[in-house]
Amino acid sequence: MIPHECQSDIPIQIAQLMERMRRHDDDLYAHSLLVGSLSLTFAAHLGFPLRDQRLLGQAALLHDVGKLRIDRRILQKPTTLNEREWSIIRTHPSLGIWILLNEGIRNPVVLDIVGNHHERLDGTGYPAGLSARQLSEATRVVTLCDVFAALTETRRYGKPHTRQDALERMARKRTRLDLDLLKHFKVMIEAHCVRDSAERGKISASCYRGGEICPKAS
Ligand SMILES: [Fe+2]
Ligand SMILES: [Fe+2]
Repeated sequence: MIPHECQSDIPIQIAQLMERMRRHDDDLYAHSLLVGSLSLTFAAHLGFPLRDQRLLGQAALLHDVGKLRIDRRILQKPTTLNEREWSIIRTHPSLGIWILLNEGIRNPVVLDIVGNHHERLDGTGYPAGLSARQLSEATRVVTLCDVFAALTETRRYGKPHTRQDALERMARKRTRLDLDLLKHFKVMIEAHCVRDSAERGKISASCYRGGEICPKAS
């Protein structure tokens, strides 16, 4: 799926940027870990080669790195953002590209995912309003994981959605999200949650399966 020349190892910069995100905003750090974990698992579920899985997971960890340049008072605001604040939030994909280039990260797959994870198939996304044919499969995979994570994780305002509710909401965005990929994603989430239900109580260390992917078994 991912061309050979796009493969690269950037673990040191990832570790440093993740640490900066952790210090900037706890929720940003937790969200990045969740989207990274989901994307890695989803890439494996889709049968991507190991190297592609790793690159996708790395890119997903960094997908919101541009929020490092956004005032934490906006990121941590406990109430709904106003239009001016939203317009600032919408700069984070472009800011992310800027940060990565400054860090010497030029991997085209990582730049693509960071810059385009808020684009939508029907052109309603941001920052560029790209159309479906301009959106790579790698970006579509991370976008699904990002939307699911945003719907299901604990928020500063509003209750998290159950996984089932989140999947239904995503299915209703039929013009925006890749529905073929969403079918596979749904199978993966449901399989993990069935396993989670069966194993609950036996697993203490795995908050990934027990708490994050399935924040509320419904
Ligand atoms: Fe984002
Ligand atoms: Fe995100």
